[in-house]
Amino acid sequence: MNKFFYSYDDIHRAIAVLADKIRHSGQNFDLMLAIGGGGLIPARILRSFLNIPVYSVTLAYYDAEDRPTDCPHKVQWLDESMAAKLRGKRVLVVDEVDDSRVTLAYCLNELKATGIDQLGVAVLHEKQKTKQAELPPGLPYFSAITVGEDWIVYPWDATDIDAHNRDITAQQHERTTQ
Ligand code: G4P
Ligand code: MG
Repeated sequence: MNKFFYSYDDIHRAIAVLADKIRHSGQNFDLMLAIGGGGLIPARILRSFLNIPVYSVTLAYYDAEDRPTDCPHKVQWLDESMAAKLRGKRVLVVDEVDDSRVTLAYCLNELKATGIDQLGVAVLHEKQKTKQAELPPGLPYFSAITVGEDWIVYPWDATDIDAHNRDITAQQHERTTQ
């Protein structure tokens, strides 16, 4: 699978675009719920544009060897006092990538089951592919960038950010000389 490397600056610019789409939609949200890990940094950047608080849950679908597990599982979820705070609020669920949709759909279903049902979704990357789960019809949905099936390498996955940035430079060089 091809890889596509993104810098923090690319991410920030994409989130500015995402914020514009949300603002121009006329939809208003009271707060964001980031799906960690990947949704945490996008949600924090989005907060600079939308000025609404960020809450979070952590779900994991891929294991340590990057293989999908049977079902997403809750690493950290809302306790009852947090759920009570979110009921009746318009919640924008934020994640980095809409890939198979399994994690997103799982999260939305679990929120609904908790009585949190005024929901929207914002993702940085929307992969154009056959989805393995459906989002509720009519759900407000926003994505910054539509991409193919390449594996996206996010800067926060790097353990050596300088090597990551060198990969970006090499990628840009490859694309301009193609
Ligand atoms: P979806 O519902 O949002 O479409 O996600 P899906 O269940 O298909 O898979 C989610 C997991 O797959 C996430 O990891 C996400 O980070 C990872 N993933 C999917 N495509 C890509 C990609 O192109 N690049 C990277 N880096 N990750 C991708 P997770 O288990 O939720 O872990 P976390 O990294 O969010 O903590
Ligand atoms: Mg994720």
